[in-house]
Amino acid sequence: MLRIKIFTLFVIILLNLNVLIHCAIENNGKLIAASIIFRHGDRTPVEPYPNDPYKDQSLWPAHFGQLTNTGKRQHFELGKWFRARYNSLVSDKYNPDEMLVRSTDMDRTLMSAMSNLAGFYPPKDLDIWNEEIQWQPIPVHTTPEKLDEILAAKKSCPVYDYELKKLYKSPEFKAYDQKYKPIYKYLTQYAGKKVDSIQSVQNIYSCLHIEQIYNFTLPEWTKEVFPDKMFEISGLSFAVKTYTPLLARLKTGPLLKEILNLFQNKTEGKKTKNLYIYSAHDTTVANMLNTLGVFKLLGYHNPPYTSHILFELIEKNNDYFVQVFYRNTTGDPLLLNLPCGTLCPLNQMFKTYKDVLPINWEEECQLSLLQMPLDINVENSLSLMTIFSFIALMLFVGVIVLFIATVYKRRDYLSEDKWNRWGNEWN
Ligand SMILES: *[C@@H]1O[C@H](CO)[C@@H](O)[C@H](O)[C@H]1NC(C)=O
Ligand SMILES: *[C@@H]1O[C@H](CO)[C@@H](O)[C@H](O)[C@H]1NC(C)=O
Ligand SMILES: *[C@@H]1O[C@H](CO)[C@@H](O)[C@H](O)[C@H]1NC(C)=O
Repeated sequence: MLRIKIFTLFVIILLNLNVLIHCAIENNGKLIAASIIFRHGDRTPVEPYPNDPYKDQSLWPAHFGQLTNTGKRQHFELGKWFRARYNSLVSDKYNPDEMLVRSTDMDRTLMSAMSNLAGFYPPKDLDIWNEEIQWQPIPVHTTPEKLDEILAAKKSCPVYDYELKKLYKSPEFKAYDQKYKPIYKYLTQYAGKKVDSIQSVQNIYSCLHIEQIYNFTLPEWTKEVFPDKMFEISGLSFAVKTYTPLLARLKTGPLLKEILNLFQNKTEGKKTKNLYIYSAHDTTVANMLNTLGVFKLLGYHNPPYTSHILFELIEKNNDYFVQVFYRNTTGDPLLLNLPCGTLCPLNQMFKTYKDVLPINWEEECQLSLLQMPLDINVENSLSLMTIFSFIALMLFVGVIVLFIATVYKRRDYLSEDKWNRWGNEWN
């Protein structure tokens, strides 16, 4: 009797479980592709400030700006987490048709991608090629930074540079500079270098933050401004680069466009991979959050080591949806509420984000004289002034040439006339 009861209970539990699993699939549809953008793992400071008591390279476990063993372990763990989440998209055995990994062309991002893949693709069975190492090589692709407008976003874009300078001169940012002036002054005095911008505060913040992680005792003067006051400025510095739709479009638009186009291609049955992994920086993560329109709501902050954004393409009743998660801890990912919702139709994504998706990035980056507003500031308009002076000079020269030409022509005409007249007379 008891046995039957237990059996019945077991069946009921199983049925419930089945319903639960079924519901989950019903609610979420089927995952058919994903793109991941992540920040590298733990690193040493890129550049200590001049008065930094810890600026001696030998105090650190790795060369400045390099990934540390902690960073490698963080990404190895994250790679295992990705494997669990995306096991349905990528086979255990490496298959180049299923996945592509891209990294910015820097040591710490390349090494992070490699550490991550060590966790993602432990060799199994026939892929074990050497008993001495539980690892197999998986390709990581990269592009020189100056040529990479998609991930590193460091390819030259004059319109972007111009817009950013304009933003810094705007009343809003002038007010920020005014507000933060006492902190700039304080930092300039103690750090031993000129601090006069949001970005320069961020650089020092980042260094102090790392020293704190490494349990170095920070100098007494830092207590006044670190972490709170500097955190606010540092967080803002991560929003600045994509502060307006145009800045977002030219800085992060190419990456968002690539991700959405890959999804689009997937839904059209074109040959695309199931999983794209982009290994990059805190700025890449923050820029994408801001471009998606969620960074301010999350609270401006420095995306921590290994923080990542997950773009997932879901198929549901022959329709396609995108859901995006942000994960900046080792806990559960946070489902982002995009302007078009938490489960946004793919075609709606293109509409919602049309202002930040470039149509022809190269062209949009080219400054044209007509595009330039006339309220230019003196400092950043040096090159503009040069261009205008040059044009004025050319016009002036042109007028003179025209004048001389006219005079000569007239003289020719007159002389011809005379000649003809005289000729006539002579004839
Ligand atoms: C810093 O100190 C904490 C607490 O004692 C410890 O858990 C952590 O491992 C230390 N960090 C480093 C990098 O040594
Ligand atoms: C999508 O497919 C088109 C046509 O096959 C191709 O030209 C394009 O590069 C693909 N997009 C991406 C982002 O791969
Ligand atoms: C993680 O993101 C949340 C926003 O969702 C933010 O408030 C928090 O400060 C971030 N945590 C870290 C460690 O950066």
